[in-house]
Amino acid sequence: MTVQDLDKIKQNALKALESINDLDDLNTFYPTVLGRNGELTLALREMKNLSPEERAVFGQHANTVKKELEEVIENKRKALADAKMREMFEKEAVDVTAPGKVCIPRGRIHPMTQVYREIRDAMIGLGFTTYEGPEIEYEDYCFTKLNLPKGHPARDMQDTFYISDSVVLRTHTTPCEVRSLLSKKPPFRLVIPGRVFRVDEVDASHSPVFMQMEGFVVDKNLSLRDLKGTLIEFVHTVFGNDVNMRMRPSYFPFTEPSAEIDISCTICGGKGCRVCKGTGWIEILGCGIINPHVLENCGVDPNEWSAFAFGIGVDRVTSLKFGISDIRLEYENDARFLRQF
Ligand code: DAH
Repeated sequence: MTVQDLDKIKQNALKALESINDLDDLNTFYPTVLGRNGELTLALREMKNLSPEERAVFGQHANTVKKELEEVIENKRKALADAKMREMFEKEAVDVTAPGKVCIPRGRIHPMTQVYREIRDAMIGLGFTTYEGPEIEYEDYCFTKLNLPKGHPARDMQDTFYISDSVVLRTHTTPCEVRSLLSKKPPFRLVIPGRVFRVDEVDASHSPVFMQMEGFVVDKNLSLRDLKGTLIEFVHTVFGNDVNMRMRPSYFPFTEPSAEIDISCTICGGKGCRVCKGTGWIEILGCGIINPHVLENCGVDPNEWSAFAFGIGVDRVTSLKFGISDIRLEYENDARFLRQF
């Protein structure tokens, strides 16, 4: 065994290492050279047959070779492990910017809810707060306290579902005015949304259930001017600044004077079309100065306090805003229809 033999072992090992590209192969290879019965180990064992001088040279060289080989193998092990890790990362990488494979359909906000929120937010911007009352209501609050005593012909304007002699499904959100007058200390400004019910056959413009929204202001010395100013602000916020508004005298038992508000037709801009029946105007709400009898009925002194109110059909405003010609579409919740908004 000579120093040259050691070099040969080294050369062969280095050559073999060159073609190893796998950690497992490297692990199998290692003991064949450096293991207990490895080539180099066996060569070292031969040392005892050498003369002391030869042994010193041989021993030193053998150690150098061993160190070199161990270093090469260790570096190779690191490189292979790194490569393996990199390969794994590449294989398992997730592209978070890639489009999803499963399409999750997105819900939409119902057009009527969109309009309701828009009106509500416009009113909140004017200092109103939301207020809600029950759908099942005392007949007293729904009619009598609102200056509509039993037998009053105006009760016919609202065909009513009776639950008992004294309890009804509310026909409008106006009984919430009674409730707030009975329970709150004026002054206050309320926006009152809710479902209301009337005995009606379903057709393109009628539904037995529909949505109303009430504006109600109680304060000192309120006049028609305050009502009109509030409504102009409201109409412009909801329909845009180009829309005109007019007040027409009307009648409601709970207001005096009473008016209806028309806006210039949102379809033809006021020229006259099918929707506005050629008039250029569309009615959107009823309003008025609260009749002093109503305040009195609710224990509020009409000499000290005044009030005005307006009531809007949310479905009607929705139809106008989106050009929906059949109210049934707004209540049937057909997803194909709702997806368009
Ligand atoms: N409650 C009325 C209706 O359902 C609408 C209405 C008119 C409400 C005048 C009001 C109002 O608050 O002042 O037809």
